[in-house]
Amino acid sequence: MKTIIANWKMNVGVREAVALARGTLLTLRGRKVSPGLVVCPPAVALSEVRKVLARSSANLGAQNMFWEQSGSYTGETSPRVLNELGVSHVILGHSERRQLLGETDEMVNKKVLQALEQKLIPILCIGETSVQHKEEMTQGIVRDQLLAALQGVRLRSSDVLMVAYEPIWAIGSGEAATVPGVLETHQFIRSLLYELFPQASKTQFSVLYGGSVNPDNAYAFLREDDVDGVLVGGASVKINQFKGIVQAAAEVLEAKLAE
Ligand code: 13P
Repeated sequence: MKTIIANWKMNVGVREAVALARGTLLTLRGRKVSPGLVVCPPAVALSEVRKVLARSSANLGAQNMFWEQSGSYTGETSPRVLNELGVSHVILGHSERRQLLGETDEMVNKKVLQALEQKLIPILCIGETSVQHKEEMTQGIVRDQLLAALQGVRLRSSDVLMVAYEPIWAIGSGEAATVPGVLETHQFIRSLLYELFPQASKTQFSVLYGGSVNPDNAYAFLREDDVDGVLVGGASVKINQFKGIVQAAAEVLEAKLAE
């Protein structure tokens, strides 16, 4: 299976989100095989987008959540409310939140624990900065972020964990990571997950790539067995581009079926 996650970030209002959700669903129409789709609108649009996605195969995702179920946490969104809104996935620890809003590994860890507790699928984002990349520190950074975020996590057999490798220098830059670079890091992440959760089934983990994914490079990533999917920012709010990415995933799936 290949999963495409659309992270609309703060780029759409409620009305635009509804229109975009309709357009996004159309990209699946008439296909023999389709990738899994997770649509992550801004929190204020979750409720309206849910109505559009109802009765489709697409899943609804949130871009963030708080680590408590309720209480005096002004401006935060409770995981319980996400459940109520039909949300199945939640992006946690995105680098924009880490860098711009001071989200720490400890906060990300509390969110991952709470998400699993609430039966939400965490899409845990990790990745190195440009300087760290140049200094070949990627594996050390990815390991530290992963171990910190997953501290104390006990995976039940019904739990699913998605990890999105998003090198910060590749996000919104138009400069995606190279396929060999992504594969090396994905294999490393997977080996850490198997080590951390020896009892879990390998199918409980997905490792996705994010960072300047577009219709031209999507096929090259998605055709790799070590890439379970892509997390798309900019190209997910441009419907023609998103359609190209869905098309690439469908071609990969069709080719695998024909093998
Ligand atoms: P871009 O696809 O715009 O590089 O963003 C990637 C991202 O941050 C997805 O979460």
